[in-house]
Amino acid sequence: MLEVEICQIKMKNPTVLAAGVLGSTSASLNLVSRSGAGAVVTKSFGLEPNKGYPNPTTVEVEGGIINAIGLSNPGVDVFKEELKKLEGNVPQIASIYGSSPEEFSQIASKVDHMVDALELNVSCPHAMEGCGASIGQDPNLTTQIVKSVKKIVKSPVIVKLTPNVTDIVEIAIAAESGGADAITLINSLGPGMRIDLETANPILSNRFGGMSGPAIKPVALRCVYQVSQAVKLPIMGVGGIMNYRDVVEFLYAGANCVQVGTAVMYHGMDVFREITSGLEKFMIRKGFHQVGEMVGLAHQ
Ligand SMILES: Cc1cc2nc3c(=O)[nH]c(=O)nc-3n(C[C@H](O)[C@H](O)[C@H](O)COP(=O)(O)O)c2cc1C
Repeated sequence: MLEVEICQIKMKNPTVLAAGVLGSTSASLNLVSRSGAGAVVTKSFGLEPNKGYPNPTTVEVEGGIINAIGLSNPGVDVFKEELKKLEGNVPQIASIYGSSPEEFSQIASKVDHMVDALELNVSCPHAMEGCGASIGQDPNLTTQIVKSVKKIVKSPVIVKLTPNVTDIVEIAIAAESGGADAITLINSLGPGMRIDLETANPILSNRFGGMSGPAIKPVALRCVYQVSQAVKLPIMGVGGIMNYRDVVEFLYAGANCVQVGTAVMYHGMDVFREITSGLEKFMIRKGFHQVGEMVGLAHQ
């Protein structure tokens, strides 16, 4: 009843661990895989090790959190060792970022054979200079990156978009024309900030960061709704999903499956089982036999 298939990735249910949350090590990815998620996405990694920003890198706000981690990661060659240790009981998606089409394809070719799909992070709103800050805001560059990765990999290529653009539909069409197999939307919203009352200093070391959690759900839903009308690709919806009711909204808006990030930080890994059991009961009550029957119903 809950099974879905997105660009040849077969999942036992439509919930996926979002990039960057518990995805830095094989140990945490394996735990999430065993906790009921339908698939997992790694933390984004690049060609070279990247320290990211100094602490504090996250701060709570009403309705979510702001993070400015700065894509800290050990680089693809070290991350490959983690990928080797994945148990593989659910599909594994590697999230990669780079500063040029060449860099994206270089990283992609190193891990293509180790995972079920690649997710191109062209959308991080707080990346450091040279780490792809504006890639997902430029339709031509987005097309070029997708094309260059598609040329050399066998795995399906999913492109993750930033909501921090004037017209997300234009970028989604650019990804589709580059040959993307699916689209994930949205990455964190912003940038936003918080300021300490006592010191009058911005709380995050980077001052600004990307917002995630329930407060961004209405924006994410609108992006999914608009993009699903404009492209034929399957969509992974993400942004503020906390429970099965949120999942139903994303499916109705046109997502084929969903990713869950901040909710895992709030509620732990049990959130996947809670969501899927709630979704199953909802489907029985409403007479749905397959997840696909709910996809796009809000467009009727
Ligand atoms: C702490 C943290 C780290 C993140 N790291 C990444 C990352 O490495 N790559 C990426 O594409 N998205 C990253 N994201 C964005 C999430 O994958 C997701 O798109 C966003 O948080 C919205 O979903 P949510 O509200 O369910 O968290 C990160 C989010 C958080 C909260």
